[in-house]
Amino acid sequence: MSALSVDYLGADTAPTLRVQRLAYLRFERPDIHKAERFLNDFGLITLHKSTTDIYLAANANADWCYHLKQASTPRFVGIGFDANNRSDLERLAQTLGAQGPESVDEHGAVERVITHDPNGFAVEVNVRDRVTPLESKSSATTVNTSVKTTRINEIQDCPASPPVIIKLGHIVIETPGYETSVRWYQKHLGLIPSDTQVLDSGEPVVTFFRMNLGDTPTDHHTLAIAHTFQSAFSHAAFEVTDIDAIGAGQQHMRNRGWSHAWGIGRHRLGSQLFDYWSDPWGAHHEHYSDGDVFTEEHPLGVSMANAQAMSQWGQIMPATFIRPKINLTTLITLFRNIRKHPDLTLKKLAAIAKVMT
Ligand SMILES: [Fe+2]
Repeated sequence: MSALSVDYLGADTAPTLRVQRLAYLRFERPDIHKAERFLNDFGLITLHKSTTDIYLAANANADWCYHLKQASTPRFVGIGFDANNRSDLERLAQTLGAQGPESVDEHGAVERVITHDPNGFAVEVNVRDRVTPLESKSSATTVNTSVKTTRINEIQDCPASPPVIIKLGHIVIETPGYETSVRWYQKHLGLIPSDTQVLDSGEPVVTFFRMNLGDTPTDHHTLAIAHTFQSAFSHAAFEVTDIDAIGAGQQHMRNRGWSHAWGIGRHRLGSQLFDYWSDPWGAHHEHYSDGDVFTEEHPLGVSMANAQAMSQWGQIMPATFIRPKINLTTLITLFRNIRKHPDLTLKKLAAIAKVMT
């Protein structure tokens, strides 16, 4: 076990605000209708649709959590969070020199501040007039176990189908400026680190952050930040009811011909049962269930980074899951970012590549 070699991972005692909910993601896609078909098969429900914009929700009872905008080039645009009150938004706008708060009605009325993280991703923080409750988390299947028999004279019936999705659970981003990004999210959104994976040197490779909801248990991670040579979207994860929803969902996605990325397995950090799918532009989307929840007081965990440590059982993470396409553009980005970010070195990138692939 290696000790953490940096001192910036930890709860900020006086953050600008503490976000309360991961609300939505925004993407630009050259074919929003193809993207919609992928997401409908994945389990998301189309709520609003025009020739240029499609808004999807986790389920029929939820607010929209996924915005597709027609554009010539595929792009991850940014993340929306919810905060407690307008004074949070005023403080955020003042601290970061952002506009607002502004009243917006985008299929639901909110007060909103839009800013950008150090990677250039839009970060929108909202206060809502009305928050739609999440769907009941009742299990999709009645399960007999070795200690409890609850299904008698009934058969198990799990046909291939898009799973019922409970909520947008988390997002993982990649960044070349690790310390800067981590400090930004801890300082301005009040996120606190649950677990970090480090190299032999103690340098962090990926850190999993949860919201600080005090004594209220919250997901092990709502945002994870991985260190690499360029800013990128890694994946978004959506909670489903149980392992049968993941398995029946996988069968449905396979039947519809979509590209499988990784799984089924159980993660080590966060403990989620998982299964990953790639959308037509290579963006990973995860079905998960049975994740860990922590309160504010749970301490930071430090463990070694390697591909085997990404799961307790199941398929080992394929190298293709994180390996970027290398071409002239990415090489230029690599060397530009090494000059720009002191914590990004060829030595660290080589060490990450060695343990993670
Ligand atoms: Fe995930």
